[in-house]
Amino acid sequence: MTIKENQSLRPFNTFGLDASCLGLIRIYSVEDLLDVIQNNIHPLRILGGGSNILLSGDIPAYILKNEIKGLTIIEEDENQVLVEVGAGEPWHQFVMWSIAHGFAGIENLALIPGTVGAAPMQNIGAYGVEQEMAFDKLRATHLTTGTESVFTKTDCAFGYRESVFKNELKDQYFITHVSYRLLKKDYTLHLQYGDIQKTLTNMSVANPGLEDVAAAVIEIRRSKLPDPKKIGNAGSFFKNPVVDATKYDELKLLYPEIPGYPTTENNVKLPAGWLIEKAGYKGYRSGNIGVHQLQALVLVNYGGGHGKDIQNLAYEIQEKVWEIFGVRISPEVNFW
Ligand code: EPU
Repeated sequence: MTIKENQSLRPFNTFGLDASCLGLIRIYSVEDLLDVIQNNIHPLRILGGGSNILLSGDIPAYILKNEIKGLTIIEEDENQVLVEVGAGEPWHQFVMWSIAHGFAGIENLALIPGTVGAAPMQNIGAYGVEQEMAFDKLRATHLTTGTESVFTKTDCAFGYRESVFKNELKDQYFITHVSYRLLKKDYTLHLQYGDIQKTLTNMSVANPGLEDVAAAVIEIRRSKLPDPKKIGNAGSFFKNPVVDATKYDELKLLYPEIPGYPTTENNVKLPAGWLIEKAGYKGYRSGNIGVHQLQALVLVNYGGGHGKDIQNLAYEIQEKVWEIFGVRISPEVNFW
């Protein structure tokens, strides 16, 4: 085990924010992790791709960087495969690997930054698909006892950008491997959401395959979401809030053009991006930080910005949206 002391966390978060930590430890295997636990190193924080965190200051902890790699087919028949993936694999590479093998189920989740281990943690989703739809189970090691447990879908308690690992079991487990069940045939493509169909038509694709769907998703994401290599960001900063139907009707009277997506009979999901744009923040900039010009849900660091300032801007936006619409929006990004 190697502890790299005084390591800046800047290269390890997509916001590109600078912060120090007590030390950085790369975890390549379950054995590496057990070594850390047996040596009683603490406090510990787990880092995946760093694409959904906001560092608002220095971190007084040792950072475990998940580097567990590998893609193994555990089971296969003529219809489907069960693949176990090292939690430190980049998510997008796993998506592209699946597509190259003709395995369906996660093609709509192309280009999502972060690692495979972070996917169930956040229950990542895009364009009508959430990772829980293909998720089978995961293996995780308890950070104090070193015991390994298997978590099924039910154990994970997935919700919209939620799981047990963000709630009851927060900071308790290190996810080492995640298994997904992918289909080899008789699958349905998810083309209904947003601009997918339109993009495929523009690409002159009449009978789309897995590659085409992923290519359309990549095209849409590139056109709206800033590339973290160029402009620091963590994707959607806020979750889309859900309001009851009565509240939605009230808002609709005031703002007839307000979009809304019914989630149940009595609930409607509102696009936070629309609320933030309407509140006047789209393209807002204050020094080195601001709100993306093309997608109001994305807060950005143009370079040299501070996490505290982004946090304050987030609070300001939350307050403003509450003041104008009487709707509470909450962050999807994890504050460290
Ligand atoms: N909108 C605006 N102004 C904006 C942004 C959005 O008016 O600046 C409105 C538009 O009416 C649009 C609607 O919001 O029709 C929805 O926008 P979009 O389809 O782009 O989706 P989103 O709600 O902004 C969600 C996810 C994204 C995911 C996309 C596509 C959340 C918080 N975000 O964004 O996830 O990629 O749908 O499925 O659920 C992420 O989690 O980091 C992320 C990028």
